[in-house]
Amino acid sequence: MGTALITGATSGLGEEFAWQLAARKHDLVLVARRENALHNLAERLHAIAGIRAEVLVADLSTPEGCAAVARRIDAPATTHTPPIGLLVNNAGFGLGKPFPDNDLEAEIKGLDVMVRAVMILSHHAAQTMRARGRGAILNVASVASRTGAGTYSAHKAWVVAFTEGLSEELRGTGVTATAVCPGPVRTAFFENAGVDMDRIPSPLIADAEEVVSETLDALRLGKVLVTPTPVYKAAMAAMKLMPRSLLRKVMRSMPHL
Ligand SMILES: NC(=O)c1ccc[n+]([C@@H]2O[C@H](COP(=O)([O-])OP(=O)(O)OC[C@H]3O[C@@H](n4cnc5c(N)ncnc54)[C@H](OP(=O)(O)O)[C@@H]3O)[C@@H](O)[C@H]2O)c1
Repeated sequence: MGTALITGATSGLGEEFAWQLAARKHDLVLVARRENALHNLAERLHAIAGIRAEVLVADLSTPEGCAAVARRIDAPATTHTPPIGLLVNNAGFGLGKPFPDNDLEAEIKGLDVMVRAVMILSHHAAQTMRARGRGAILNVASVASRTGAGTYSAHKAWVVAFTEGLSEELRGTGVTATAVCPGPVRTAFFENAGVDMDRIPSPLIADAEEVVSETLDALRLGKVLVTPTPVYKAAMAAMKLMPRSLLRKVMRSMPHL
């Protein structure tokens, strides 16, 4: 897979993807908004795992931020800009409020980062990887993709449907597309969304390490959809069978993402 570009690399799942890919000797391009955190991570990855980690500061809610990352994906291969073999569209956040109560601006930012940026970066990656005849695109969705609970859930449903379609459109090209649907994971996600994580029973919260490890195994096998951890595999299966009206009722007692 060569060099991997990870969005949202400064914390949580993105940082864990960085460490596990570095342990497998992939060079990295780390993308997020917090410049100091990116440089700090790049230095530690280099010192501990011996890999090369580029820093690309970009706000993916803006056209300029997306364009800067797209330029890196399209960059002609040189020793300073090795080709991107794996794109991990991971950046994202919970909105934490029902749609009618939230600022429209915040809602649009969520759409821009979790849908628009994913579409733009996937388009650049699909074209450049297809031209090279190899590569992989990994999109981070969520079990929320099935819950029909608010715009976060809608964005992640888009990611799943988009990735499934893309995987078919890339069939036979040497490029794969995979969507991962984690359940709740111990990261800064809930705090950033203003959601009290204590409302979720702790056995139902996964560690980033196991989620990422299972995801990378599935990616290597070229799987299209992966739901890490046995409890959320079962939950996804149950949600597929459950009448939508019942699922909506169950979701009323869950924290809003
Ligand atoms: N944690 C969970 O329970 C869970 C479950 C299912 C799916 N997910 C998904 O997993 C992904 C990673 O979330 P996480 O749990 O690791 O949360 P996290 O720890 O809060 O990390 C989110 C990452 O996204 C980056 N980011 C946010 N807004 C951005 C923007 N405008 N431009 C560029 N980067 C931005 C942040 O970096 P900067 O602040 O430095 O920009 C940070 O690195 C998200 O897509 C999330 O929806 C999470």
